[in-house]
Amino acid sequence: MSQIEQLELFDDFRPTETRQDIIQMHPSLICPENDLEHIFTDMSFEEMHNRHSMVIHGDSLEIMQKMKENSVHLIFADAPYGIGKDFGNNSDKWDSVESYISWCKEWIDACMRVLNENGTMYFMTATQHMPYLDIYVSEKYNVLCRIVWTYDSSGVQSKKMYGSLYEPILMINKSPKSGYVFNYQDILVEAKTGAKRGLIDYRKDPPQPYSMEKVPGNVWDFSRVRFKMSEYENHPTQKPEALLDRIIRASSNPGDIVLDPFSGSFTTSAVANKLGRNAIGIELNPTYFEIGIRRTGIATEYNGKKLIKEKIRKTKARSKYVRG
Ligand SMILES: C[S@@+](CC[C@H](N)C(=O)[O-])C[C@H]1O[C@@H](n2cnc3c(N)ncnc32)[C@H](O)[C@@H]1O
Repeated sequence: MSQIEQLELFDDFRPTETRQDIIQMHPSLICPENDLEHIFTDMSFEEMHNRHSMVIHGDSLEIMQKMKENSVHLIFADAPYGIGKDFGNNSDKWDSVESYISWCKEWIDACMRVLNENGTMYFMTATQHMPYLDIYVSEKYNVLCRIVWTYDSSGVQSKKMYGSLYEPILMINKSPKSGYVFNYQDILVEAKTGAKRGLIDYRKDPPQPYSMEKVPGNVWDFSRVRFKMSEYENHPTQKPEALLDRIIRASSNPGDIVLDPFSGSFTTSAVANKLGRNAIGIELNPTYFEIGIRRTGIATEYNGKKLIKEKIRKTKARSKYVRG
């Protein structure tokens, strides 16, 4: 079997508990009906919501101005990278790196205003732009962790340069004195040394087997979303559910409010809801907004149109190994 086929056959990511299990464990934490509306000072925008999810169509800078300060617990912001991706709305085009960076500073400040005192924000941008933003947030807020999301890609075949196989993620909070949630026990991974090799740690008295589990490091290896995975949506830069699962489990609690100001295919909202969190997602493109309504289970129809998932490949370049 080719490497491509092996990657495409990766089992879809499945959380271990269902949303129903989590609600049963923490019934009092789930937002009461319409509670998500209360974090807005003004609801004059296009939106759809149910009792645990709100999907908003609009410019996140404008929408966040209508939110109360300190109102959300966790933010995942996966803004356009400033590299000309086609999101159907020219939203990833800037005249210069300077203008892109100053726009990023605006949305970072807007996010930090609505984040609560002990909240955490994770954000992503292109590898070449992250250093500017790292310096900005290091001086103004507090960097908790610099994470690398790495993945394999069969598309990297340049003979002139190493392939680009990672994306940086910055995890920040308001200040070095602010608290933050870190549920390390909910994100443990296999400790290969202990689990696979069965080694004994002789530094302990008496000697003990190495632990079978550990807290993940800051290099995260998750497959990108492939066409054959059931989580695949028609969006050019969809993030894997497994990536959001780790972030949401670690940095929020059931019943918390998770905000994604650049929701795309609404991965963050979908995973947050599965994990018993409440979600607010904002997206500029009306087609992606409709994906959000369907993917969060808010409705199956919008403005008389049935919201049906029909997968379209992100790229026309098909490998000879990929069928169907
Ligand atoms: C990198 S993608 C997010 C992908 C998402 N994390 C996912 O898993 O599908 C960025 C998204 O931001 C949207 N966008 C661009 N400018 C925006 C703005 N000012 N307000 C809200 N959304 C915006 C784009 O349409 C695009 O879908």
